[in-house]
Amino acid sequence: VTRRVLIVAAHPAIWRSRANRALREAVAGEAHVTLHDLYETYPDHMVDVDAEQDTLARHDAIVLLHPFYWYSLPSLMKEWLDLTLEHGWAYGPGGDALRGKPWLQAITTGGAATSYGPQGYNRFTIEQLLAPLEATAALCGCPWQAPHVVHGARTMDASALMAAGHAFRDRVRDLAQVVPAVA
Ligand SMILES: Cc1cc2nc3c(=O)[nH]c(=O)nc-3n(C[C@H](O)[C@H](O)[C@H](O)COP(=O)(O)O)c2cc1C
Repeated sequence: VTRRVLIVAAHPAIWRSRANRALREAVAGEAHVTLHDLYETYPDHMVDVDAEQDTLARHDAIVLLHPFYWYSLPSLMKEWLDLTLEHGWAYGPGGDALRGKPWLQAITTGGAATSYGPQGYNRFTIEQLLAPLEATAALCGCPWQAPHVVHGARTMDASALMAAGHAFRDRVRDLAQVVPAVA
């Protein structure tokens, strides 16, 4: 059995991107994967909530792919979350549209892995910094997946970018695969 995976991707300047572009290219041809580019779809930031809810409803797993900006999401992705995850749809009474759909954060960071943690200049681990998103997923009944993180994204050479793309593709394939419960 295969899950239909929706990759919601946000990068405000994809033409200047190296890391996010490499990750997107690595999954572009995958079966059962939809790549949904928010900045391309909504250059005016006017999110079409009905269309977004329909798209989410037609998939079984959600990936948010983005550069880490101020320990968080690019602004249009936050807008997308604010508008799309409506009360009575994503959470609250009758709000079970996303229930059971795994949720994966796929992020690229400028900072090295060693910068994330109590001894590093970023002070907190990625997992700690992603707590608001983990709580959001939990409220919507979405099983939280260990985040997929590409560190040091601004200094990667071509082969490192290629390897990062392949690792992300493998991660998405794992997510698409439903492992049957052992009876
Ligand atoms: C507005 C802004 C905020 C950023 N905030 C962070 C941050 O909080 N932590 C971090 O590690 N890198 C941060 N960065 C660096 C980006 O995460 C990094 O440039 C990006 O992941 C590289 O991916 P790309 O080649 O797809 O643009 C920030 C960059 C910008 C432009």
